[in-house]
Amino acid sequence: MSNESLENLSHEARTFAPSKEFAAAANAKADIYEIAQRDRLGFWEEQARALTWDKPWSKVLEWNSPYAKWFIGGKLNASVNCLDRHVAAGIGDRVAFHFEGEPGDTRTITYAQLLSEVKKSANALIELGIKAEDRVAIYMPMIPEAAIAILACARIGAMHSVVFGGFSAEALLSRIQDADATLVITADGGFRKGGAFALKPAVDEALKGKHNVKNVLVVKRTGQETAWNSELDIWWHDIVDRQSAEHVAESFDSEHPLFILYTSGTTAKPKGIFHTTGGYLTQAAFTHKAVFDLKAESDVYWCTADIGWITGHSYVVYGPLINGATQVMYEGTPDTPHKGRIFELVEKYGVTILYTAPTLIRTWMKWGDEFPKAHNLKSLRLLGSVGEPINPEAWMWYRDVIGGNRCPIVDTWWQTETGAIMISPLPGVTATKPGSAMRPLPGISAKVVDDKAQEVGNGHGGFLILDEPWPSMLRGIWGEDERYKSTYWSRFENKYFAGDGAKLDTDGAIWLLGRVDDVMNVSGHRISTTEVESALVSHEAVAEAAVVGAADAMTGQGIVAFVILRGGIPNVGGDELIQQLRNHVSKEIGPIAKPRQIMVVAELPKTRSGKIMRRLLKDVAENRAVGDSTTLADPNVMKLIKEGLSTGKDED
Ligand code: WT7
Repeated sequence: MSNESLENLSHEARTFAPSKEFAAAANAKADIYEIAQRDRLGFWEEQARALTWDKPWSKVLEWNSPYAKWFIGGKLNASVNCLDRHVAAGIGDRVAFHFEGEPGDTRTITYAQLLSEVKKSANALIELGIKAEDRVAIYMPMIPEAAIAILACARIGAMHSVVFGGFSAEALLSRIQDADATLVITADGGFRKGGAFALKPAVDEALKGKHNVKNVLVVKRTGQETAWNSELDIWWHDIVDRQSAEHVAESFDSEHPLFILYTSGTTAKPKGIFHTTGGYLTQAAFTHKAVFDLKAESDVYWCTADIGWITGHSYVVYGPLINGATQVMYEGTPDTPHKGRIFELVEKYGVTILYTAPTLIRTWMKWGDEFPKAHNLKSLRLLGSVGEPINPEAWMWYRDVIGGNRCPIVDTWWQTETGAIMISPLPGVTATKPGSAMRPLPGISAKVVDDKAQEVGNGHGGFLILDEPWPSMLRGIWGEDERYKSTYWSRFENKYFAGDGAKLDTDGAIWLLGRVDDVMNVSGHRISTTEVESALVSHEAVAEAAVVGAADAMTGQGIVAFVILRGGIPNVGGDELIQQLRNHVSKEIGPIAKPRQIMVVAELPKTRSGKIMRRLLKDVAENRAVGDSTTLADPNVMKLIKEGLSTGKDED
């Protein structure tokens, strides 16, 4: 978005003040910012006290930039905080998950039942030799066992590394290798788009590579035919069902590693972001309660994110369960068997809080109002958005059509690295503007700065940085300490650089403007341009590739690739080759990385030092006049590219 259109937008933007009724009953009170401001560390200690600690901490924070330790000396168990303490408090009969499979099968799982399943699974992991700090890869569809597997790992102090079920065998293998996982937990398959898809074959394919995996635990979900390697494979039900439902959890240090989650960086190799226990859980639980205004006794909360992303970790597993929430978990796609599926489920379970992504909101807008209008959505009282900037039109539609003009909207900015929400309105306290994430949460310090790290002031744009450590911050990149320092802490000294551009409007509200690095955001998922480029050049027909994220009305950004073919490869009947290349990327990384469009070109625009000028390619991909190309080694290249374009656009 250009500064000019942003300016207009913020001038015109309407402000929605909290209603008196909402404010009166809200978890967050108006003085919360002031309280946190007065004593930031004391504020976080107060939030940490909401957890159950087996041993209290002796020091809140130790900050040797860029390394933070929170709640030092404290001991706790993540799974006990999610489960045991609720059962001990007498709410074991409360529903933790209303699970709805895509085919329509359902399971109701109470806190007591979830605890018993997690204890049995923890005992199974112990029987398989898994110990504290071992890494367990979890590659699952969105079914209750995914949450159970995560909590079983946490219970015994093993680190989970969840790999999104949509990633390819190659992507899974590289993550298994990087974390040196010794166990994989998967399923035969899951249900999506009206049919069964297989997961286990991708695990089998991945394990043809080099690894130290000793076992593969397989949940039977679809019952489809599954190849079996009796040396490694064990059915989940065969080992878990016969375990004792007793398991006394051990206490772990506050800084005990909890999980690794891979995310795309600016190179081809994903970053293993790792989080620890006490600080992460504190901020996940606090933000879940304050930002979503959770009233555990009466709310039905639904976050539509997959467990394979950080949102699934913090706002399906840890935050909500620590707060004793009742949730909906849905396995499938929003258009199966019809485009009103999500709304049907909101009505069926009486969902009060809905947390989803702008890409889905825009898809609903495209499908038409008749689908939400066919259902009673009056139970909803709060709406959330995450993953990418939400455009004001989509925000207004979400408010009107889904929220019936009565639900506050929280646009929540955060990252895999931040672990929990950092910038968001607080419902009942903050007046909101459509399209703005508004301001940092209490206890969080975020600034918008220029390239010399000077604050830009209201009405100006720049880079988003975080200038104080926060409890749920990443503790590093797994095995890549230098990369941790250079990626996040080198651009601005001692300040965390998020990689996002942002602008402060004249009232000081924060408007996120998207990534400023070579990272794309497609449907709220982070994909690096370099990762897609290296997938393309691994195909025999491709000599060179450049990838850009082009504005896309539905997915935020779409992947557009420019490729130079190898000598001797004819670009005739190019469509077939282009389909091949698109499928190749999908196979290498996963369907989410499949380019929207591939253009075969004779040259790529490069500077004299050989750096590809993606900015110019972006102009082409977005159908704009090409910007300043005077620094090109060969100024004719852009003309050649525009003239000789052979496009392979596809709409799947
Ligand atoms: C990147 C982080 C946080 C969970 C989902 C994505 C973008 C995220 C917003 C928002 C504008 C947003 C940023 C960020 N982003 N939320 N509310 N407004 N942009 O997690 O894969 O770690 O990606 O997503 O660009 O850096 P992730």
